[in-house]
Amino acid sequence: MAQISIIVVTFPAQGCINPALQFAKRLISVGVEVNFFTTHSTHRRMINTGASTPAGLSFIPFSDGYNDGFKPGDDINHFVSELSLHGSQTLSNLIISNENQGRPFSCIVYTLLLPWVAEVAHELHLPSALLWVEPATVFNIYYNYFHGYEDLIRDNMGKNDDHSSWIRLPGLPLELRSRDVPSILDAENANNFTAPLFKRLFELLDKENKPKVLVNTFESLEPEALRSISKFDMIGIGPLIPSAFLDYGKEKDPSDTSFGGDLFQSSKDYKQWLNLKPKRSVIYVSFGSISVLSKQQTEEIGRALLDYGRPFLWVITEKQRNAEEKGKEDHELREELEKLGKIVPWCSQMEVLSNPSMGCFMTHCGWNSTLESLVCGVPMVAFPQWIDQRTNAKLVEDVWKTGLRVKANKEGIVERDEIKRCLDLVMEDGEIGEEIRRNAEKWKDLGREAAMEGGSSYKNFKAFVSEL
Ligand code: UDX
Repeated sequence: MAQISIIVVTFPAQGCINPALQFAKRLISVGVEVNFFTTHSTHRRMINTGASTPAGLSFIPFSDGYNDGFKPGDDINHFVSELSLHGSQTLSNLIISNENQGRPFSCIVYTLLLPWVAEVAHELHLPSALLWVEPATVFNIYYNYFHGYEDLIRDNMGKNDDHSSWIRLPGLPLELRSRDVPSILDAENANNFTAPLFKRLFELLDKENKPKVLVNTFESLEPEALRSISKFDMIGIGPLIPSAFLDYGKEKDPSDTSFGGDLFQSSKDYKQWLNLKPKRSVIYVSFGSISVLSKQQTEEIGRALLDYGRPFLWVITEKQRNAEEKGKEDHELREELEKLGKIVPWCSQMEVLSNPSMGCFMTHCGWNSTLESLVCGVPMVAFPQWIDQRTNAKLVEDVWKTGLRVKANKEGIVERDEIKRCLDLVMEDGEIGEEIRRNAEKWKDLGREAAMEGGSSYKNFKAFVSEL
C-alpha cells in the first residue's frame, strides 16, 4: 500500500511552528509522510540555529515575497497579503503536480492565520484540518464573536470589572470580564492584522461540512469547550510536547527533547547554573517570541526580581533588547540582576520547565508556554499581554487554579510591588501557594495521562490517522 502523505502548513511564528513540528513528528512516528510547507526564511532560520529538525521530515520551503522574512518595522498587513498570494500559488501547484504524478496528498493540516490554505484545499477538494494552537475556549470565543455575539462582546470590552458586566457565552462554563477576552476583539484593535484573518477563516469553515479541528489541548482540561460547537469535529490531541518529556506510549522517543524548529539561537550557559540550584527555588521569566514590553515595564520586573531576591532565569529576546535601544539600557540594573540570576536571549524552554529547580514561571501566557508549564507541573505568575493570552491567564487563575494573574495599574503597568506580591504567594508556603502547587501536580498528571497510550489525546490522534 502506498505511504500516506500529508502537507503541514505553519504560519512563520514560533508559537505555530512548535506545535506543528511536534504534530509532524508524531505523524512520522506512525509511518505517515509529512511535507512541512513553510517560508524560505523560516526554513533557513531553523537550520541556522542548529535546531535538530525532525528526522524524516520533508521541508517544502516557499517564497513569501520577502527575502529575509518579516522583520520588525515591516508592514505586517503587506507581509500577510504577500504570504497569502505566493503561498496559495505554490501550494496549488504542488497539490496539482503530485496528483498528476499519481502521488496525491491525503490531507492538508494548517495552523492559525492561514485562511488561504483552507481556500486552496476547498478549491482542490483536498481534505483539510485546522491545527488550532490556542485553547479550545478561545476557539469558542472567536466562533461566538463571528456568530451573533459580536455586540455583546464589544459592549463588554473596556468596561470595568464589576460583576454586572461579566458575560457568558454558549457552551463555556466560565464568566468573562472584559480583560479575559482576546484583545483583537476589542474595537480599538479592529485594525490588527489578525482580526480579518480569523473572520475569513471562520467564514470558510462555515462552508465545510463538520470541519475537522485538531486542538492542542486535552479533554480533561477543556471538556466543555471541546464539545460546545456541534458543527465542528473538534478533538483534543495535545499536549504537543517533545515526547521525551511525556509518555506517548509506544511512540515515546527519549531522544526527542526539543521541538526542533527554534528561530532563535539558544544560550547554553544557563544549564549548569540551573542544575546547581535547589529544588523549587528558581523563577523562570519569559514573554515568548513576539511580545515586546515597554522599558518601564521591564524595569519594574527587574526591580521586583531584585527586591524579591530569589534566583531567576529571564529570557530577554534580541527583539526586546533592540526595542529598548541597547545604548539606553540601564547597565547598573542589568549588572545587579546578573549577580542574582541569569539573563539569556533564548533557551530550551521545555528543558528549563522540566528542571527540578523550577519554582514558578512568570509567563505572558502564550498558549504553548501555558501548556508546557501545566505539563511540567510548574505554578505560574500570569502576566498576559494581548490576544489569547488574556483568556489563557483567566483559565490559569480561575479554572485550573495553577497560578495568579498580576494586576496592572491605570496606565497599564504592573508595578514591582504587585509582581512581588504574586511571586510571594505562588512561591512561598502559605495556603494559596500550596493549593496552586497541588493543582499544578494534578494537571501535570492529567496532561501526561491524556498523551499516554489509551489516553484521550492518544486515541484521538490515532483516530485521525486512521481516517487519513
Ligand atoms: C504566539 C502568541 O503570542 C500566543 O499568544 C499564542 O497562544 C501562540 O502564538 P508566543 O508569544 O511566541 O506565541 O508564545 P508561546 O505560545 O508561549 O510560544 C513560544 C514557544 O517558544 C514555546 O513553545 C516555548 O517553549 C518556546 N520558547 C520560548 C523557547 O523554546 N525558548 C525561549 O527562550 C522562549
